[in-house]
Amino acid sequence: MTPTHILGISAFYHDSAACLIRDGEIVAAAQEERFTRKKGDPAFPRRAVEYCLGAGGVEVGDLTYVGFYDKPLLKFERILETYLGTAPRGFRSFLMAGPLWIKEKLFTDRQLRDELGYAGEILYSEHHESHAASAFFPSPFEEAAFLTMDGVGEWATASFGVGRGNDIEILKEIHWPDSLGLLYSAFTYYTGFKVNSGEYKVMGLAPYGEPKYVDLIYRELIDLREDGSFTLNQRYFNYLTGLTMTNGEFDRLFGGPPRVPETNLTQREMDLARSVQEVCEEIMLRMARTVHRETGLDRLCLAGGVALNCVGNGRLLREGPFKELWIQPAAGDAGGALGVAQLAWHRHCKGPRQVVPGKDGMKGAYLGPGYAEAEIEAYLRSVGAPYRRVERPALLSAVAGLLAEEKVIGWFNGRMEFGPRALGARSILGDPRSPRMQAQMNIKIKFREGFRPFAPSVLRERVSDWFELDVDSPYMLLVAPVRKERQIPMDDAAGQLWGIEKLNVPRSDIPAVTHIDYSARIQTVSRDTNPDYYDLIHEFECLTGCAVLVNTSFNVRGEPIVCSPADAYRCFMRTHIDHLVLGPFLLDKEGQPEWKESGDWRQEHQLD
Ligand SMILES: [Fe+2]
Repeated sequence: MTPTHILGISAFYHDSAACLIRDGEIVAAAQEERFTRKKGDPAFPRRAVEYCLGAGGVEVGDLTYVGFYDKPLLKFERILETYLGTAPRGFRSFLMAGPLWIKEKLFTDRQLRDELGYAGEILYSEHHESHAASAFFPSPFEEAAFLTMDGVGEWATASFGVGRGNDIEILKEIHWPDSLGLLYSAFTYYTGFKVNSGEYKVMGLAPYGEPKYVDLIYRELIDLREDGSFTLNQRYFNYLTGLTMTNGEFDRLFGGPPRVPETNLTQREMDLARSVQEVCEEIMLRMARTVHRETGLDRLCLAGGVALNCVGNGRLLREGPFKELWIQPAAGDAGGALGVAQLAWHRHCKGPRQVVPGKDGMKGAYLGPGYAEAEIEAYLRSVGAPYRRVERPALLSAVAGLLAEEKVIGWFNGRMEFGPRALGARSILGDPRSPRMQAQMNIKIKFREGFRPFAPSVLRERVSDWFELDVDSPYMLLVAPVRKERQIPMDDAAGQLWGIEKLNVPRSDIPAVTHIDYSARIQTVSRDTNPDYYDLIHEFECLTGCAVLVNTSFNVRGEPIVCSPADAYRCFMRTHIDHLVLGPFLLDKEGQPEWKESGDWRQEHQLD
């Protein structure tokens, strides 16, 4: 029988993506930004589609269905009602958003057909249904509750329900304009970071602050109910009527205007970050308790942008009512492409769902392009880059040795990850024991704020030797403390230090991955999903006794994660990465020809 191929697409909002499934199996998935090199590219994912079709060996004419991750008309209705409902104040931003919406979004159907050259049926799912599908269908559970939380899709901003066998059912929703994602984004904006990408920075900044504003947030901004539902006091927000997230009332409440981006961070921003993070965690916990009570199920799947809040996820795991959690690695809107494709297969085609207990369907999230040895070599020759080809076992021990000497390694291996985290396919690696590594990697390699913590990759079997965690965390979406006996208490002098100054005080015997509050954002590495990466960490452990590596995404600030060998080599040459591993090839920074830039890339990425 001819296999059923379904192409899922998420586009026109932020972080466009495509995903191809064959008889329910995920064949390929990738975000458009990786190909176009425009961070969070919202355009039609032409290159990602091209890649997915190529990876599946099919053409547009072979597709049984195309699925689109939300319903443009519903979204348009929300936008229209919002603006009409708040006129005349809302009129100005309607003029700004209107033409774009009408041109780009309302005519999605025709646009999809034109872009793809596709004449078959297009299936649309609701935004939160796409998130829910991406949370439940690839999970290792036959039956589970799901919870989705994000900024906004059409009307819903959060939903929960039940996944069973090959279908999902949404039981309840929270509607616009009450949105946990937008509350968090309001503080992201107010603390001077970019909405939709700076939320991570707010989360990273939170432990340096005090929860000084929590009471004020509960008193003025949000009416939070016991069951986790809430109403936001729109008096303080500007996203309904204006072009910013917060307004003058908000400034008065918190004692000043938003921080100007790129200016110095003060204790105030840290306190604001800590406060909104605490509120966010409290809402997540209350919602989870409600979901547990109403579904009576012990397993929970998460998706939607808020599910990338791995500190909140860690608390859900430790303090929440669920026995097991599974979190979609592409929890943001890119994952909607995967969700709608799976929904089309299971619901529309009545396709079966095979569950292997303990194993999810994401293939480690290694769903992006991989490059053959010959392709990599041809590229290296074309730029005259000196390299050595080293057989696998010798390559891994050479890299482990370099890491132990505090060298920083660009690690490009196998298929690229789907979702925002680098998981050992497009990663920059370092020695977590080094007290200098965090500052060095932040400033000389990533060109980003020094406060931002790095995450550890640890062998799955060793995770509980290093961290207070003993479950799978393959997608780096759970935060847990470093084990007590590894922690170094802060002495009185260190305790007196102000906010970010505390950064330089080692907090454990793996200081480069231990945040100020002893927490770490953990990736557990299993041999069956990424054998090379697993073996590398194992080799490092044999050499040093440490089964942990620093793993940060292979990019510089403001740039998408590298996709191709050319992207990786460019990033290697622009930064202080010491060695580059491209498949079987090992490159040393010393001896590389001089790197010439075509334009001002630092300005392009807004680096100083
Ligand atoms: Fe979303």
